[in-house]
Amino acid sequence: MVPTIVVLNGPNLNLLGTREPKIYGSDTLADIERQAAAHAKTLGLAIEFHQSNNEGVLIDWIHAARGRAQGLIINAGAYSHTSIALRDAVSAIELPLVEVHLSNLAKREPFRHHSHLAPVAIGTISGFGALGYLLAIDALAHHLNIKGSQS
Ligand code: DQA
Repeated sequence: MVPTIVVLNGPNLNLLGTREPKIYGSDTLADIERQAAAHAKTLGLAIEFHQSNNEGVLIDWIHAARGRAQGLIINAGAYSHTSIALRDAVSAIELPLVEVHLSNLAKREPFRHHSHLAPVAIGTISGFGALGYLLAIDALAHHLNIKGSQS
């Protein structure tokens, strides 16, 4: 069985590529999904990649990961700063989480400095643009002790 990582993207991330490219870069979410899938494959991992603008849909995907996936990567967009429900969902399913943000939240408005997900994540990757998703895959693979075919 190929270990699977579920990658979830929250509100407005469907607009990547055209959304404030100076902050979020010019890669589209489809570009990021391709890069993430290719990178995961080199480690012998599979990814499931989703995006929703709806908090409840994201929660349902977190629940659905239980028993099927080995880890989660979540860029919850603005829900990171507001959603206790997403945090509770992650806590409930007890899968390792890496939180990702394209932008460096510490350099941005104060309301982006707090994340409800950060305390239930192994760690947070913020400020590296699309590369952050690949770094998150590496971090999860390391956490899961998955060495990949190349090492
Ligand atoms: C973001 C940062 C959030 O503050 C913002 O609401 C987003 C994107 C990021 O990837 O940098 O939608 O999560």
